Amino acid sequence: MQEQEYLSIKELFDLGGNVAIVTGAASGIGFACARRLAEAGAAIVLADINPETGEMKTRELTSNGFQATFVKCDVTKEPDIRNLVDTTVRTFGSLDILVNNAGIYPNKPMTEMDIETWDRIMNINLKGVFFLCRWAARHMIEQGRGGNIINIASASASHPTVGLTAYDSSKAGVWMLTRTMAVELAPYNIRVNSVSPGPIHTEGVSSPEAVEFNKSRLHRILMQRLGRPDEMANIVLFLACRASTYITGSDIVADCGWSLT
Ligand code: NAI
Repeated sequence: MQEQEYLSIKELFDLGGNVAIVTGAASGIGFACARRLAEAGAAIVLADINPETGEMKTRELTSNGFQATFVKCDVTKEPDIRNLVDTTVRTFGSLDILVNNAGIYPNKPMTEMDIETWDRIMNINLKGVFFLCRWAARHMIEQGRGGNIINIASASASHPTVGLTAYDSSKAGVWMLTRTMAVELAPYNIRVNSVSPGPIHTEGVSSPEAVEFNKSRLHRILMQRLGRPDEMANIVLFLACRASTYITGSDIVADCGWSLT
């Protein structure tokens, strides 16, 4: 039997010496993850397609004494992805944690779906996740000290919603991607897991239509409230740290019972 290392609570959640990339970090769940991982001691690379908000949010972290930098990245563009991984390693010396959070969720009835919208959703939510994992995993393997990949999927991956055919399918793809990559990367001590949020109150769901949409779903959430980004970030922290070393290829559903009802 392997000798067991007994760690204190503080040690379990300590990410000091780790470097993390969070995509879609300029907003919502992504920024909450960046902040939580920074609080645990990791150096953070905030990556986003939106440089104005991204830079501003990064300053919010650095002005509070956290180690953070911003890299503009469109996760659908391979040169951007390569640049993100290279800049991370150049700036902070390693890459240990990757949080694939960037995602879009346009609502469109299936009879009105066009190829451009379908492709955009799949390219950001699924293809972008895979190709960033590919570049990050290559680096983690070279580095030789394992790694940790956390994909933000959705409770919608298993629970269909009218108007979300492409989105739901993309997130179901993230589930299988997570499990397949976990199998392939386990020999290198790289864990791959996903988090599946239910309805969370973020900038992305603050338009009047989105607010109405979420209101109509409130009765199906057992605690009758939307989730908070930091509630998702806490789960990401758990998966990123040494409190979860025996978890890989898993998904944690955090939807307050939404998918039960
Ligand atoms: P949000 O819309 O508040 O933030 C998304 C961020 O991703 C933005 O900063 C945006 O600029 C960035 N982004 C968009 N396209 C990008 C691209 N091509 N490359 C890089 N960055 C890009 O979103 P929110 O609500 O925080 O969602 C984050 C993740 O959580 C998404 O993957 C979403 O599908 C998932 N999720 C959200 C839920 C919710 O109720 N808010 C529920 C379940 C899952």
